[in-house]
Amino acid sequence: MSNVVISCENVVKNYQDGGLNVEVLRQINLTIHKGESVCIVGASGSGKSTLLHLLGGLDKPTIGDITLMGQCLVLLNQRELGELRNKYLGFVYQFHHLLPEFSAEENVMMPLLIAKKSREEAKRAAVEMLDKVGLKNRAAHRPSELSGGECQRAAIARALVTRPACLLADEPTGNLDRKNAANVLAMMMELKNELGTALVVVTHDDQATQHFDRVMTMSDGVLTVSSE
Ligand SMILES: Nc1ncnc2c1ncn2[C@@H]1O[C@H](COP(=O)(O)OP(=O)(O)O)[C@@H](O)[C@H]1O
Ligand SMILES: [Mg+2]
Repeated sequence: MSNVVISCENVVKNYQDGGLNVEVLRQINLTIHKGESVCIVGASGSGKSTLLHLLGGLDKPTIGDITLMGQCLVLLNQRELGELRNKYLGFVYQFHHLLPEFSAEENVMMPLLIAKKSREEAKRAAVEMLDKVGLKNRAAHRPSELSGGECQRAAIARALVTRPACLLADEPTGNLDRKNAANVLAMMMELKNELGTALVVVTHDDQATQHFDRVMTMSDGVLTVSSE
């Protein structure tokens, strides 16, 4: 069996901006292997979020191929893409995007309910994952009753509750202070090791690159291997 989770071949992304053709990603080649951690660092506007969207099947490349677990994303329709995303990927963003009217536990159950698991099974998995992120005693709290760091940990639990092959994180610590940022990153790394999840983090914070298997730099849409 292949150990490739995501592959990205000769990917180009252009946007039309007021009649102008803007090249946002240029000839990106990237392979994410099972269980590895990759950090992509780059200035704001360099194309990091655009790349992560493409890797997650949330947008399509202008040119090039992206495969997720061996399936070519450009060939899939929206429903098929949605199913593949739900099955194989977890997403974490700068802002937690937890649903405010639900408890932490209900938020974490959501991806499993969407995947048509029973409430009982979803609840069991959510409790287990909340325990792993240190929020066992906060399960009944709503996002407004949690701190910023706790909300982000709940968002990580929600992203990992389906045991995805890969976690895609876009500036996951961008809204946290140094201490909470370090804690959240360490936790993601620990869970990645425990669950065997591949981890791709994109960030403008060049201090967040420690502990990753690989660090790459995005600069004006060009992805290069960082020299440490
Ligand atoms: N939907 C869009 N239409 C036009 N330009 C876009 C769009 N999305 C992003 N861009 C442009 O692409 C470039 C890269 O954006 P982005 O991927 O968000 O960078 P980063 O995440 O590194 O800050 C920026 O110049 C941005 O303005
Ligand atoms: Mg971004």
